[in-house]
Amino acid sequence: MNTHGATITGVGFCVPTGVLTNEDLEKLVDTSDEWIVQRTGMKRRHIVGPDGVTSDLAIPAARAALEAAGKKPQDVDCIICASATPDYLFPALACLVAARLGVPGKPAFDISIACSGFVYALTTAASLIRAGVYRSVLVVGAETLSKITDYTDRTTCVLFGDGAGAVLVERCAEDCFLGSDLGSDGSDPSVLYLPGGGSRFPYSRNGELSAQRLGYIKMQGQSVFKFAVNQMAASARAALAQAGLTTAEIDFVVPHQANLRIVDATLKMLGVPSHKCIVNIAEYGNTSAASIPLALAEALEKGMIAPRSVIVMVAFGGGLSWGSVVWRWQAAPVKKAQPLEPSPGAAPA
Ligand code: UT7
Repeated sequence: MNTHGATITGVGFCVPTGVLTNEDLEKLVDTSDEWIVQRTGMKRRHIVGPDGVTSDLAIPAARAALEAAGKKPQDVDCIICASATPDYLFPALACLVAARLGVPGKPAFDISIACSGFVYALTTAASLIRAGVYRSVLVVGAETLSKITDYTDRTTCVLFGDGAGAVLVERCAEDCFLGSDLGSDGSDPSVLYLPGGGSRFPYSRNGELSAQRLGYIKMQGQSVFKFAVNQMAASARAALAQAGLTTAEIDFVVPHQANLRIVDATLKMLGVPSHKCIVNIAEYGNTSAASIPLALAEALEKGMIAPRSVIVMVAFGGGLSWGSVVWRWQAAPVKKAQPLEPSPGAAPA
């Protein structure tokens, strides 16, 4: 028996002003607007400039979520960031966000599970609130995938973009966290991974990293595609079962924006009509951990999601990993923020 419930009280988002179109990509690799649109549904992505970093997007998105909720940073008990592209391997992105929000003493940590990060983080936040550990948890999904995208590889570079979305999760009498399903299968990391920068190919072996282009996303596209199509629907069903709901009771699906064909196949497997699905992939491409909160934020901006709606957020990604959350929506304002100006960050002494 839960003594506390969790609800989302504010949503924020932030996207870079720089835009990379399919036509721009035609100049970089052997591809075409027609191929990209047909195979992915993407037309544009927003990307930071050479000096831009993930915290430039995460901090304004976090601040916007707080402002939307009418709360101050001091009101937050814990900050969780989901990102595959934090500013540094450590400190965690969440520590940087906490410091810039002016609350450096707060618990702050990152969740590193690639594109499934936001649903993992939201599940963690809601569970901490349910357990009575915290009253208020700020969850941020933020990425600058342009930093790890190989713009000489046409099989990956058309897919990825940058952005950030944030939600404030607070204690509430009614529990809006209805169900969740999380999973992973790390048996073959090479299906989708960033080889360099960890202990296997550390940055200290910089020559090797650059020669083999190990600092970029590597992916077996078709394997990921097949995995995604099967796993997204199965995960959404598992989370719905936990919530005691059927697919017919879904008002909106907010899927990870990886590929329009994956989204369409998932909807078909769930038997959910496309008008119940939130899609903004044409404008942003795949922004990994930011994609679900970004899509949610834009749908709220457009006034699409009415209070009491049942929302299923469903993701998959590197790990391989997957996750779904079923959420009862209550009225929560949304706010858009501008990115921070790039700053020098910590430089070697
Ligand atoms: O967040 C998770 C991250 N990853 C994903 O979600 C990726 C999931 N996978 C996919 O979205 C799709 O597999 C892709 C969009 C990556 C590729 O689409 P596909 O329909 O699976 O294409 P394919 O890999 O079967 O390639 C078909 C053809 C190949 O040429 P041949 O061998 O038939 O001559 C590719 O070389 O398309 C070629 N190709 C391209 N052509 C033009 C691959 N990339 C491109 C490109 N432009 N950008």
